[in-house]
Amino acid sequence: MNSESVSGSANASSSSVAPLASTPSSAEPRVWLITGCSSGLGRSLAEKAIAAGDRVIATARNVDSLIPLLRLSPDSVALVALDVTQPDQVRSAVAEAHAIWGRLDVVVNNAGFGLIGAVEECSDAQIERNLQTNLLGPIRVIRAVLPHLRAQRSGHLIQISAAAAISNYAGFGIYGAAKCGVEGLSESLRAELAPLGIRVTLVQPGPFRTEFISRSLDRAEQRISDYDATSGKFQQFLSRISGKQPGDPDRAAEIIVQMVHRGQAPLRLALGKYAVDKVRKVLRSREFDLNEWESVAVGADFPA
Ligand SMILES: NC(=O)c1ccc[n+]([C@@H]2O[C@H](COP(=O)([O-])OP(=O)(O)OC[C@H]3O[C@@H](n4cnc5c(N)ncnc54)[C@H](OP(=O)(O)O)[C@@H]3O)[C@@H](O)[C@H]2O)c1
Repeated sequence: MNSESVSGSANASSSSVAPLASTPSSAEPRVWLITGCSSGLGRSLAEKAIAAGDRVIATARNVDSLIPLLRLSPDSVALVALDVTQPDQVRSAVAEAHAIWGRLDVVVNNAGFGLIGAVEECSDAQIERNLQTNLLGPIRVIRAVLPHLRAQRSGHLIQISAAAAISNYAGFGIYGAAKCGVEGLSESLRAELAPLGIRVTLVQPGPFRTEFISRSLDRAEQRISDYDATSGKFQQFLSRISGKQPGDPDRAAEIIVQMVHRGQAPLRLALGKYAVDKVRKVLRSREFDLNEWESVAVGADFPA
């Protein structure tokens, strides 16, 4: 599938827009490229970046779903079709996106969906689909944007991870594997890209009131009753909180935009009290395990 772009009157032609200086000053608009803007966090991020005076290249599999964003601010929004599972489309969409305003400042890997079910219950095809979108998709987008960001010697990669990567639940093994993969990837990227002026931040949202549970959650094809008390219970929990999640995607988006504008960003930003509490709990538990096992674990080295 070829990428398709729609843009407002002032940005319809990339040649009509003068390229900006390499690093935008605080007064200059940043150019955002965001995946998965049809709903939820991606949509909120696009809206908040526009409200902050920035320019947004909003992407989605179905570009028609983005028309309301274009109407919101035709001069500072451009739309590009992008399915992150399609390698050719990722490359052409990024080239097209870069040509619109001649730079990319903030790239958000937001597109994603859940897969609920015990690891054994998920089919090979379901596992493959989930990793294609949640892990290989971000890798493709990053590899496509990096030549542009390196040439600028600036940029900020924002990876939407998940509370499942802080510590995971029964029933979210494949999704958590994908998000933990993104976390490992991002730690390397941070070390590789910091000397080149490019920032990397992992955002770890707790449960947010988006379409994630209602629409973006694949369910394991097989059901094995042995997992009812573990994976099955987590599935029931998700159904119970659907529509009542504590996280507000608009507030999350505002925090992310403020972080980008501040010019200083952590490697990890847990969002919402649920995620913050979870990080504290995990830190305590890891410290406890380390203390319990340290004297034994160091004995695995060759004697000095
Ligand atoms: N909401 C939460 O509780 C929560 C918690 C932790 C992490 N997250 C993460 O937050 C991110 C955004 O999710 P959300 O909560 O905003 O849910 P959402 O409202 O369902 O949005 C998911 C977005 O991902 C897009 N998408 C899915 N597959 C895609 C693909 N192959 N190519 C391009 N776009 C694709 C969807 O587009 P279509 O319209 O084409 O399907 C949609 O725009 C995801 O990475 C999710 O894992 C969410």
